[in-house]
Amino acid sequence: MIRAFKQGIGVLILVWVVALTASTLSAQTSGNAAAKAVKNPVPATAASIKAGEALYQKNCQFCHGPTGLGDGKLAPKDMKPANLTDAKWDHGSTDGEIHAVILGGLMDKKMPGVKGRMSDTDVWNIVNYLRSIGPKTAAR
Ligand code: HEC
Repeated sequence: MIRAFKQGIGVLILVWVVALTASTLSAQTSGNAAAKAVKNPVPATAASIKAGEALYQKNCQFCHGPTGLGDGKLAPKDMKPANLTDAKWDHGSTDGEIHAVILGGLMDKKMPGVKGRMSDTDVWNIVNYLRSIGPKTAAR
């Protein structure tokens, strides 16, 4: 009886591990392999996060909202700016992938990229800021 019970638990754990692996894999398929390999060269110091926050409030909050919830006042009606504080990164969760999204923009430029308008260090400062308000559990 106890033995059968133990086997049952073993099977349950196996199913859980397989499901977890599958969901992790599918979450990553939408990412960007080249960008994923890029490492963040700017340490996430308090100064970097503060600089990133100022840039975010100036360039991003009118779409993504003052606290990153995706509820910015000036977001065009036909688009839903991403909630940047949830655990879901549709376009990749590593620093390198987030950096690529900010640089290049998304959805055929509905989210405009900042390429040519912002220094690379400033883009990394924003990445560090988003990390500070975003999910702590995502892969980096
Ligand atoms: C004109 C509105 C607009 C502006 C301005 C804008 N975004 Fe976005 N952003 C969007 C939309 C819409 C999406 C979601 C695209 C999708 O669903 O595929 C998005 C998605 C993102 C994502 C991907 C989130 C994910 O889940 O993978 C990041 C990161 C991001 N934005 C960061 C920024 C930053 C940083 C700025 C400022 C430099 C910015 N955005 C400015 C509209 C905007």
